Amino acid sequence: VGSHLCDALLARGHQVICVDDSRTGSVANLRHLQNHEGFTFLLADVQAPLLIPQPLDYIYHLASPASPADYMRMPVTTLLVGARGTHNAIGLAKAKRARFLLASTSEVYGDPEVHPQPETYWGNVNPIGPRSVYDQAKRYAEALTMAYARTQGLDAVIARLFNGYGPRLRPWDGRVIPTMLRQATEGEPLTIHGDGSQTRAFTYIDDVTEGLIQLAESDLQQPINIGNPEEHTILELAETVIRLTGSASAIRFLALPEDDPMRRCPDVTAARELLGWTPAVSLEEGLERTLASMHAFA
Ligand SMILES: NC(=O)c1ccc[n+]([C@@H]2O[C@H](COP(=O)([O-])OP(=O)(O)OC[C@H]3O[C@@H](n4cnc5c(N)ncnc54)[C@H](O)[C@@H]3O)[C@@H](O)[C@H]2O)c1
Repeated sequence: VGSHLCDALLARGHQVICVDDSRTGSVANLRHLQNHEGFTFLLADVQAPLLIPQPLDYIYHLASPASPADYMRMPVTTLLVGARGTHNAIGLAKAKRARFLLASTSEVYGDPEVHPQPETYWGNVNPIGPRSVYDQAKRYAEALTMAYARTQGLDAVIARLFNGYGPRLRPWDGRVIPTMLRQATEGEPLTIHGDGSQTRAFTYIDDVTEGLIQLAESDLQQPINIGNPEEHTILELAETVIRLTGSASAIRFLALPEDDPMRRCPDVTAARELLGWTPAVSLEEGLERTLASMHAFA
């Protein structure tokens, strides 16, 4: 998400300082920006205090392992990045009097019992399960953000992102769309965990970055869902990927992981009414654009 956000901000004429320790991301995704006069890259871990001399108007805090494969490989770090990293990013926002945007997640809703999920829903999260390291890190980050907003005047907003995807995702990222696109293009079976009836709301990256920028530039001070309310089952996704790629791949069903959410779909009334944001890219169109970018780099 971060590299696309840098592109979108620079295209609007902003100066961008991108901080990343390359833990799960790839600096190759920023290579096209290295000679851009508005762009600076700083290789740094947000778990340590951030020293940035320039004035800052906005801080978009996206740094966190985000793929289940990543956060299950580094569970303690994920919790610490959510805690210390968010604390440091907020500290920088306070010092610079910058507006702070926290990139949170639909995972704060856990395996939801309310459908679709409005921002007022408190969620159904197993606090000690394998996914809790990410879900609870983000819930803590949200609580920390709101505590600073409530008591210390932090100008802050929270974006709850739902399954973003698009060009530049790592083929071995572990998230379902890059996994299925890789499997289909390599002629491997597409793997589905469970029977494929679980649903997700896949949101194309351009809609994500547009939502993030509109939120940061608004005066809202609350969590807002940024997700495409078109709900798809994982089986539908697999069938669409096979059709769009013309792949001969079969579908292989595997065991469902612990605490895998069964339904996931945002209520985007708040984003639409308070922000004027609605997603513009359908799943099929987004998959086609993602595939085209994979072919361009093949
Ligand atoms: N893509 C999605 O579907 C989605 C959904 C919900 C929330 N989010 C949130 O959006 C943000 C970006 O996610 P993404 O999909 O681009 O994931 P990603 O793994 O591609 O990007 C995360 C980036 O954060 C960096 N990072 C991690 N820990 C860091 C640290 N301690 N210091 C500095 N940099 C660090 C990584 O190197 C990577 O470049 C994350 O906070 C994620 O939780 C993403």
